Amino acid sequence: MSGVRALVTGATGTTGSRVAAGARSAGAEVRTASRHGSDVHFDWYDRGTWPAALDGCDRAYLLPPAGLDLAPSMVPFIELARRNGVERLVLLGNSVFPMGGPGVGAVHQALAEGGPDDFVVLRPSWFMQNVTGKHYLARMVRDEDRIVTATGEGRVGFVDADDIAAVAVHALLDEKRPAAELVLTGPEALSYRRVAQVVGAARGRPVAFESVTQAELVERLARTYPLPFAQALAALDVVIAAGAEDRVTPDVERVTGRPPRSFEQFAAAAFGSAG
Ligand SMILES: NC(=O)c1ccc[n+]([C@@H]2O[C@H](COP(=O)([O-])OP(=O)(O)OC[C@H]3O[C@@H](n4cnc5c(N)ncnc54)[C@H](OP(=O)(O)O)[C@@H]3O)[C@@H](O)[C@H]2O)c1
Repeated sequence: MSGVRALVTGATGTTGSRVAAGARSAGAEVRTASRHGSDVHFDWYDRGTWPAALDGCDRAYLLPPAGLDLAPSMVPFIELARRNGVERLVLLGNSVFPMGGPGVGAVHQALAEGGPDDFVVLRPSWFMQNVTGKHYLARMVRDEDRIVTATGEGRVGFVDADDIAAVAVHALLDEKRPAAELVLTGPEALSYRRVAQVVGAARGRPVAFESVTQAELVERLARTYPLPFAQALAALDVVIAAGAEDRVTPDVERVTGRPPRSFEQFAAAAFGSAG
């Protein structure tokens, strides 16, 4: 892979840090980009930071900033990247919003309509890492020994960020793109009731499962987050309750050649020795 230079945006985050490490291991020259702590200062909302980030790069991993109105910043960046000779663009989307849908769905559509077949959109389901780190679920587990959710018995095809990154590295560096779009899940769909059991067993201290209504979850999350964000998070729980994430796909194994990690394996590694 020598001679390939990949720009990795969101490089200090959950997926970007793994993508940067994986692409380096695969022999690419990597330029990390974010607002703090990367090789280049890069801000999706400051076009002045874009040219230096792109300079000399022929691949790019695009990690959207927070929010739903993404096209006004991301589409012009994509156009600039293509003009600057970037040959492969890998966008991190999500399993909820399809091409043409809200949020990143508009960027997905612009990629597909606006240019050559030089892009891959990764559409992961929920990250296993949501129960570790900074996510609100992780805080509930850590601080309250429980998971409060409006997902009911709805199941999610949780996927490990390591597997997302492994797919992203192939999508960035393989000569032929694996697909225009990949829906990434783990090997099985789990309810949050099951997640609580698995995490509790792995860390050696039980995690309670508490099922609440959408309104109750909004009320709870609004103590921490602005109301619109709390409402958006709770609405996603309702999507899960309706069964929209109850699926698994073969895409991780198809691209990487190995099966995705199970939630049990993830939890054992993440919590195993924590006690
Ligand atoms: N969590 C899930 O279950 C899940 C499931 C499916 C899809 N997703 C998607 O995953 C994405 C989050 O990915 P992640 O977890 O890898 O990210 P993350 O850990 O939240 O990190 C975000 C990264 O983006 C950078 N960043 C934030 N705002 C920026 C800006 N304005 N300009 C440039 N860089 C910026 C951050 O660094 P600085 O702050 O230093 O700039 C950081 O490197 C979201 O788009 C979400 O929709 C999440």
